[in-house]
Amino acid sequence: MKLAVLKERRNGETRVAATPETVKKYIGMGLDIAVEQGAGLASGITDAAYAEAGATLAASAAEALAGAGIVLKVRAPTDEEFAAIGKGALLIGTLAADAEAAGRYAGAGIEACSMELLPRITRAQSMDVLSSQANLAGYRAVIEGAGAYDKGFPMMMTAAGTVPAANAFIMGAGVAGLQAIATARRLGGRVSATDVRPAAKEEIKSLGASFVGYEDEESKAAQTAGGYAKQLSAEFYAKQAEVVAAHIAKQDVVVCTALVQGRKAPTLVTAAMVASMKPGSVIVDIAADAGGNCALTQPGEMVVTENGVKILGFTNWPGRLPAAASALYARNLLTFLSTFWDKEAKAPKLPEEDEIVKGVTLTRGGAVVHPLMKPAA
Ligand code: NAI
Repeated sequence: MKLAVLKERRNGETRVAATPETVKKYIGMGLDIAVEQGAGLASGITDAAYAEAGATLAASAAEALAGAGIVLKVRAPTDEEFAAIGKGALLIGTLAADAEAAGRYAGAGIEACSMELLPRITRAQSMDVLSSQANLAGYRAVIEGAGAYDKGFPMMMTAAGTVPAANAFIMGAGVAGLQAIATARRLGGRVSATDVRPAAKEEIKSLGASFVGYEDEESKAAQTAGGYAKQLSAEFYAKQAEVVAAHIAKQDVVVCTALVQGRKAPTLVTAAMVASMKPGSVIVDIAADAGGNCALTQPGEMVVTENGVKILGFTNWPGRLPAAASALYARNLLTFLSTFWDKEAKAPKLPEEDEIVKGVTLTRGGAVVHPLMKPAA
């Protein structure tokens, strides 16, 4: 069976869905690999490295896709790529599909799996693209925040005087936020963090940061069975904002990572809070892909406010360290495929009743099967 790896074309995407390391493993599983020329360049992987690993290079996406039974992507295919994917092919990526897109995959007979829908269960951890990418995003956010900050992160005692440690505040302590806490601590910052899920409070403290937040009866049940934060009441958010407002005015670097699954990111930093911050302080909003946690974030941009606060609202944070992000993403996909692999037939075998398979499968046999993708949903 042929497996195609395409060059990503959407929104300046820098990542790639397979690396020479995973190509070798796929060949060992009995697959023939076609990699579109230039697919890995933005991640520092040359065509020669793929060829050395045993892949055949294809001059175009259409050439890579011709006869492919499996297609690996980071982002959803473009219209042109979509048109070249064969009927019955298994497409794996972070497709960010809605009911309409899922309908199109079904109509074309494409078996589409969207990895961002993977259930957050222990067995799925090594396939978890959200975790692998969020972890890197949290690290990178602090590094870029430190770069944009006009003082140092650690306390520096010099003959010319002392530079104080930066106060770093991490909002949202999920996968990205916990890595941001750890990174800011390693840089020598004085780190505090907030979250609404009760479990996050202990995790924040165990990383050596202080917890700042509002807790009440509502926040005791702020976590869904899947481990995500729930959308909470306007009253709760108002109380939380009071606590945050007092704290944020004293912060030098604020890293925003808070998300509520399936919704716009909650606005946690208002324009008034930004106005209360010191000139030279930095807000890094990695929730920008979901609209941002800061009211003044402009997704994709860095803005400097009138009072001299820099707001880094870049999108696709994992794509800002493409080599590491591609390596982890590629391994996530390899683990998924090798877990659901028929060694005899040398082909994927996705049992319908498996929790992981159920979680990611959008379409099967020409029909939309994912509950979130049904037109009525
Ligand atoms: P996420 O990316 O959906 O959200 C980031 C963080 O923002 C979360 O910690 C959330 O509680 C927080 N948040 C939401 N609203 C907030 C508000 N108003 N104020 C402050 N913080 C707010 O979350 P992520 O990182 O994807 O993790 C979700 C959960 O899944 C966590 O419990 C994590 O431990 C769990 N998890 C489990 C895995 C497994 O067992 N396989 C793998 C990865 C994560």
